[in-house]
Amino acid sequence: MNNETPKPTISKPIRPDDICPRPDKPVAHTTQPMAPAIYPTSVWMCNDTQQADQLLAGDLEGYVYQRVGHPNADAFAEKVAALHVAERVAVTSSGMAAMSLAVLSQLAPGDHVVVSNQLYGQSLLLLTQELTRLGISSTQVDTGDRDATRAAMTSATRLLVVETIGNPRLHVADITSLAKIAHERQAKLLVDNTFATPVLCRPLELGADLVLESVSKMMNGHSDVMLGALCGRACDWERVPLVMSAWGLASSPFDAWLAVRGLATMHLRVERACETAQRAAEFLMHSPAVEQVDYPGLPDHPQYDLAATQFGGRFGSMVTFRLSGGRKAADAFIAASDRIPFCPSLGEATTTLSHPESTSHRGLSPSQREALGISGGTIRLSIGLESSDFVLAALAEKLAGI
Ligand SMILES: Cc1ncc(COP(=O)(O)O)c(C=O)c1O
Repeated sequence: MNNETPKPTISKPIRPDDICPRPDKPVAHTTQPMAPAIYPTSVWMCNDTQQADQLLAGDLEGYVYQRVGHPNADAFAEKVAALHVAERVAVTSSGMAAMSLAVLSQLAPGDHVVVSNQLYGQSLLLLTQELTRLGISSTQVDTGDRDATRAAMTSATRLLVVETIGNPRLHVADITSLAKIAHERQAKLLVDNTFATPVLCRPLELGADLVLESVSKMMNGHSDVMLGALCGRACDWERVPLVMSAWGLASSPFDAWLAVRGLATMHLRVERACETAQRAAEFLMHSPAVEQVDYPGLPDHPQYDLAATQFGGRFGSMVTFRLSGGRKAADAFIAASDRIPFCPSLGEATTTLSHPESTSHRGLSPSQREALGISGGTIRLSIGLESSDFVLAALAEKLAGI
């Protein structure tokens, strides 16, 4: 028997600078976490040269570098693919990055695009001004006019670009007809579905070739994410991974992680906002200070029947209206109470308002704005998740302040 007291083993002190940078050991899960993990890592370790070679050649599935792909983007993409019934989804750093990805992967110098004249301002700028620098020409057209759209298409047209619900007058695109017009000329239809979300509309099922979502809006819905998604078919995806990586359009893991969380409540948020939007539109119609209300759910909206079938009986969370008192009335309306913040975006949990003349459409000339039916008195509401009583009371308070 050894009665000696054991001596403490004195391990060689390890310098903090040698400990801290070492990669963590992988977590061994006996049970699975209910909430998904975030992988903020910019780079992944390779086992050997052969594996690195296979990964980088795309012969082996796996991650190497965040700009090329990461698990949080893939987790989000999988859900979006299911929602849009899409064969492929690319998750990008913003909605505009998704638009860049679409044009850079599908177009080449000498090509021509036909674009709706009611696209989001930055999309119009990208498609009609930036693309000319790459040798790609464009024609703007009222895509609600089928003959004019057909006439704008040429043998060089590769893309027809529209929004499911246009900004700010909330015109509804007839996606089935527009897909036919594009396909007659062997062009593709790209639909920006941001105002509709996949809850209201799945353009791929209606014949569109590519669908874009600004996830920064209603899909995430909490004003804390900048993200985009491009959805399409495998046959149109050949150049997508290369363009994503080489032009640096990829998403951040944290934003993709937050967006997965936002997506879990999207259907509830959209349904709620649509119900309140319908009530708000009907309420505004009866105000003497309001001369025009645009909402696809009002029977006098020019595409009411189309919206009713295309969106399955819901009409969206955006309401646009025109105050008869012009810019002065709009300024008074905005200043009247802070219960509906002036916030030039959309799809937030909070009901917000925007003033197209001074924000989204400020780059247009007065006559261009007038042609689109935008005046100094035009206000665009993005309905949030408050009770409809709250929203109606807030609108009444603001109208009283004019
Ligand atoms: C309809 C529409 N499409 C695309 C975008 C661009 O999205 P993001 O701001 O995520 O780049 C916006 C932004 O306001 C938008 O309203």
